Amino acid sequence: MKILRASEMGFCFGVRRAVEMMEDAVHERGSLVSLGSVVHNPQVVDKLRRDGLEVITDPTQAAEKPVAITAHGVGPDVVEKLQASGVEIIDTTCPIVTRSQQWAKRLAEDGFAVVVFGDPNHKEVRGVIGWASSQVVVYASEEDLGPLPDDFPSRLGVLSQTTETEARFASFVKKLFETNIDRISELRVLNTLCHATTAQQAATMHLADSVTLMIVVGGRDSANTRHLAAVARGCGVETYHVEAAAEIDAAWLADHERVGLTAGASTPDFVIDEVASRLEAIARDQG
Ligand code: F3S
Repeated sequence: MKILRASEMGFCFGVRRAVEMMEDAVHERGSLVSLGSVVHNPQVVDKLRRDGLEVITDPTQAAEKPVAITAHGVGPDVVEKLQASGVEIIDTTCPIVTRSQQWAKRLAEDGFAVVVFGDPNHKEVRGVIGWASSQVVVYASEEDLGPLPDDFPSRLGVLSQTTETEARFASFVKKLFETNIDRISELRVLNTLCHATTAQQAATMHLADSVTLMIVVGGRDSANTRHLAAVARGCGVETYHVEAAAEIDAAWLADHERVGLTAGASTPDFVIDEVASRLEAIARDQG
């Protein structure tokens, strides 16, 4: 049995940057609170916690300690609350997410209603919605599309959660236009997809051509890891999404000659290496 790794996987530059900024800050200042989980990966969060990072859920819980905004970013209301409380802010928002936020803001300022394609409960999307101000609607899938809100202007801007797939976003935009063509005078599409994510998805697709089983490693709450698993399944490959090596059942690998390994953008190298070692050990046992 052969274990093949995707050519692109694991920490993207935005997550690596955010984790390094938090590690530096916690070591320099001795204490730091993070507004929500640093990234959607329990192992990364646990390591930073051991170093002295505390995770809070509301800006009012900062208690005068420096506060880190995570890679997913926040809306302007949260920034204002933090500024009003006078705490030091360490902003680790990924620059690609910041760009989405700025586009949402500009669209609203230019008189466009904003349509966001993504998970309305995801932190990145909630932040982007905040920058788009009031005339904004979120759709998690094209199946949810219907007539736009009655009070929407005829000029629409559309953008996507950064971790969506190219195919899903393109199909969503097409259906949005078709469904509401009588209401739309201008449709401005901002390609807010993240290259790091699309490169990982392409690498997973490429790998799926030469394996019959795919192991996708990453936090269960990680949107981009879940998308990678969906991409692999979409290629017709039996796929398991695991958070850690211990979850792998040796029985999954029986009868597979070539097994693929990929990981989401928030999965640290050491977790990928542990999973790879476990797969190799199982492969040796099964001969
Ligand atoms: Fe940023 Fe893309 Fe990573 S948006 S956090 S570089 S997945």
